[in-house]
Amino acid sequence: MESSKKIILTGDRPTGRLHLGHYVGSLKRRVELQNSGEFDDINILIADDQALTDNADNPGKIRDNIINVVLDYLSVGLDPDKVTICVQSALPALHSLTFYYMNLVTTARVSRNPTVKSEIQMRGFADEGLPVGFFCYPISQAADITAFDATIVPVGEDQLPMIEQTREIVEKFNKTYGDTLVLPKAVIPENEFQRRLPGVDGKAKMSKSLGNCIYLSDTPGTVKKQVNGKMFTDPLHLKIEDPGHIEGNVVFTYLDALCTDEHFKEYLPDYNNLDEMKEHYKRGGLGDGVCKKFLISVLEEELAPIREKRAKWEANIGDVYDILSDGINRARKKTDAVLARVQKSMRIDYFEDRSIVKEWEEMLRSAQ
Ligand code: TRP
Repeated sequence: MESSKKIILTGDRPTGRLHLGHYVGSLKRRVELQNSGEFDDINILIADDQALTDNADNPGKIRDNIINVVLDYLSVGLDPDKVTICVQSALPALHSLTFYYMNLVTTARVSRNPTVKSEIQMRGFADEGLPVGFFCYPISQAADITAFDATIVPVGEDQLPMIEQTREIVEKFNKTYGDTLVLPKAVIPENEFQRRLPGVDGKAKMSKSLGNCIYLSDTPGTVKKQVNGKMFTDPLHLKIEDPGHIEGNVVFTYLDALCTDEHFKEYLPDYNNLDEMKEHYKRGGLGDGVCKKFLISVLEEELAPIREKRAKWEANIGDVYDILSDGINRARKKTDAVLARVQKSMRIDYFEDRSIVKEWEEMLRSAQ
């Protein structure tokens, strides 16, 4: 269905506090989009049901982290007056839509989804057996997105296969039942370093189990420790005078993702910008200590206001609860309306009114 509106839906699994990878890959962009004033409607979904698909034995973890994720949202500047923040399990329309969409997707197609494939490996489901619920989560994600008539889905790069799968479901639905669903588009960060911020160990994506995260709520001491203690720079850069390498040097990867020319004015006025700093590092004569110290200043400039806001909200959890229940009420109206439209297109709206009584009577009469 063509939409004249610009509607955003995005979300996160509440399995832990949000970290710098979430921040540069998605959260920062959401705040910019929110403040651009260009959107008719912005929705952020805390995907607790999706989180349960690989945490079925630990619902307490999800319960605890719903509040952590909302606190992270509010701390980075998402404004509940401008965005609807809601919780998946409180929106029954999402479950109904998932059940209908399941009929439009083959198991072969889900099996080819690269994100699902790598997660199956990562979570050990390849050996233990694959829960059906987990296998179906891309379909439930299509329900999340379409239930809000979303046109734009701002996500990290790893989510692109999910949006692709959603688009296929929309096309299949519209072809099968008539023009009903809106075709969404993914947006990912333009800056390639922001798309895939590695952990502080430089190896993989940030992940709790690898201990390579910088969390938005980490103390200045922890941030410093992660940078100074865990970030490798260039193993060939032994003496300050040695020429240094930028590629694969995590400190520079983080600076590429985060720093601006203003940061140089403020904290490292020897250079006008990152290019000048990199040139000096490559030439030799710039020590790793200076680079790390600069990175810590940049990180602190981003994180200090986030931490401060978090502390304020943490002292008012009752207000956060009210924000969520208000968001849920608003989201319920939107998603129920889309479900009604879907059921009408599928002609399973039997009990909307009594018109089917006549239809059944006529059908039975003509069959005689
Ligand atoms: N799968 C997403 C993640 O792991 C979370 C998510 C759930 C989501 N539903 C969504 C993202 C809808 C975008 C749109 O981060």
